[in-house]
Amino acid sequence: MSLGKTAKLNTGAEIPLRGYGTWQAKPGEVGEGVFQALKAGYRHLDLARIYQNQREVGQGIRRAFQELGIKREDIFITSKLWNSEHRPDLVPRALDNTLNELGLEYLDLYLVHWPVAFKSNGDIFNLFPRSPENNNQVDIDDDVSLVDTWKAMIQLPKEKVRAIGVSNFTEEHLEAIIKATGVVPAVNQIERHPYLPNPPLINYAKEKGIHITAYSAFGNNLVGAPLIITRPEIKEAAEKASKRTGKTVTPAQVVLAWSEIGGHSVIPKSVNTPRIQENFVDVELAPDEIALVDSLAKEEKRYNIPAGYKPTSWPINIFNTPVEQDPKFHKVNLGI
Ligand SMILES: NC(=O)c1ccc[n+]([C@@H]2O[C@H](COP(=O)([O-])OP(=O)(O)OC[C@H]3O[C@@H](n4cnc5c(N)ncnc54)[C@H](OP(=O)(O)O)[C@@H]3O)[C@@H](O)[C@H]2O)c1
Repeated sequence: MSLGKTAKLNTGAEIPLRGYGTWQAKPGEVGEGVFQALKAGYRHLDLARIYQNQREVGQGIRRAFQELGIKREDIFITSKLWNSEHRPDLVPRALDNTLNELGLEYLDLYLVHWPVAFKSNGDIFNLFPRSPENNNQVDIDDDVSLVDTWKAMIQLPKEKVRAIGVSNFTEEHLEAIIKATGVVPAVNQIERHPYLPNPPLINYAKEKGIHITAYSAFGNNLVGAPLIITRPEIKEAAEKASKRTGKTVTPAQVVLAWSEIGGHSVIPKSVNTPRIQENFVDVELAPDEIALVDSLAKEEKRYNIPAGYKPTSWPINIFNTPVEQDPKFHKVNLGI
């Protein structure tokens, strides 16, 4: 069974470049979305505990096994350790819980979702432990470091997790865990799109052999900003590519093709079958089309944290953006 274009991880495993995202895919739609994605040819699924839809995702996968003859080993499955599960003793339980939700024996990749530890009383079902004494803010655990959690990830049994990695880590976070353990994450999954191409982090990852997976390639709908595919520059690139190839190339296909330049993977989310199929089509861009997409980089912006930061969000400085520089924000405990 074809995996399509792939990249090789530092473990030797192949990761398909075009994956399927599941965040904000609601109950009643995510199982069907996963099934339709597998039917359309996707062989890489991006999941997470915090999306709170992994049971239905598991149903969609099992349906594909039965109806499409797909086997477990044909699919690359990623899931993520949530912030309230960072304490080293909770990490193996969190993995088992995710495998149980999905009804799977193993993951191809398990990521530390954020470089943020929430204070947990050991209840892995409380995903947002809050502090009533502190405006009901999420409680940050300053005692659990990134290195502590990374060491626990390294200890996870290989038969349950084929590769381990991180998400939303900056160069500083990556340096800390690599320096302390010598174990280089297989993947860093980051917000990356035409407004945030992030060349320094991309170059650092390349130097270290860390594969990059791009999320929110279109910009999601979290902060209500228009999707990147509505930009005239992207539409113009799509028109040019359509003229050049004699086939209809859509703005979404342009952004996804751009995202994969350099061998990165990209994980668009859709629960609409025609869009799921549209997002799986692979096109090659010409240099002038790439230049049109690149022209958006000067308007640097993020769609995810800390964009849309609210007082009840996590008070922690991850990316050092102006809103995060408030002295009330916790520092990431690197552990070195
Ligand atoms: N590691 C992390 O911290 C992190 C953070 C964010 C996301 N992610 C992962 O990355 C995945 C993708 O990112 P994302 O969900 O933030 O956003 P995204 O994939 O950039 O955008 C999703 C939005 O685009 C719409 N859409 C998808 N295809 C379209 C098309 N061809 N034409 C028009 N609209 C289209 C979707 O609506 P419809 O569903 O209605 O089509 C949805 O509203 C997530 O699902 C998740 O798996 C990871």
